[in-house]
Amino acid sequence: MVNQIEVIEDHGQLYTRALEIIADQLKDGAKVFGLATGGTMLPLYEEICKSDLDFTQCTSFNLDEYVGLAKEHPESYHSYMKEQLFQSKPFKQSFLPDGQSQNSQAEAQRYEELLKEKGQDFQLLGLGENGHIGFNEPGTAFTSETHIVQLQQSTREANARFFNSIDEVPSYAITMGIHSILRAKKILVIALGEKKRVALEALRSGTQTEQIPATSLQKHPNVTVLTDIHID
Ligand code: GLP
Repeated sequence: MVNQIEVIEDHGQLYTRALEIIADQLKDGAKVFGLATGGTMLPLYEEICKSDLDFTQCTSFNLDEYVGLAKEHPESYHSYMKEQLFQSKPFKQSFLPDGQSQNSQAEAQRYEELLKEKGQDFQLLGLGENGHIGFNEPGTAFTSETHIVQLQQSTREANARFFNSIDEVPSYAITMGIHSILRAKKILVIALGEKKRVALEALRSGTQTEQIPATSLQKHPNVTVLTDIHID
């Protein structure tokens, strides 16, 4: 069971707390940061950009990228990260899967090898409404490494708000696997709003099931969850 769950209703205070956790990581010598995308991370990246934190000696790895979107596409995770974080807070090196690779399978393997070699000290995570982490949809093996995934219709619908229409939302993505995520030494989950309640309750319940990928986090010894939802 994940027991470091901090409920902070005020979003300003919640993101300040997240920033503090990241600052502590830097202070403790963390060098490799796993990063996430999604609406939830936007205020956090804004806080980081305003802060005096320095990542120029650090490496970042993003969780995932859509297959088939050009890096320059405004909704690619490459564009998201550049705009929201990297142009203000550069890292020494930043890696994201290449969603345009001719051979996605080989790209997933290359990414996994690089990730294994560097090893995340810290991993930032959001939760999908269906309990996904990264783009690991329900049913993904807890032993999975970086791989290609077909996105569920519900995930495409949830992410359609960032595109002109759902038809533009890619159907496939490259994502770190669940095992790749769990290798991080420390994990910070941020999950806000009622839509994340089911995933949060599962994470807290003690049940581990591949039908709810977030429950894999119960296997990890150092997970902090920041949320605005009260769960019993
Ligand atoms: C996408 C990302 C996830 C993210 C999730 C939640 O599916 N691949 O990493 O956690 O969205 O997004 P939001 O923060 O917008 O709710």
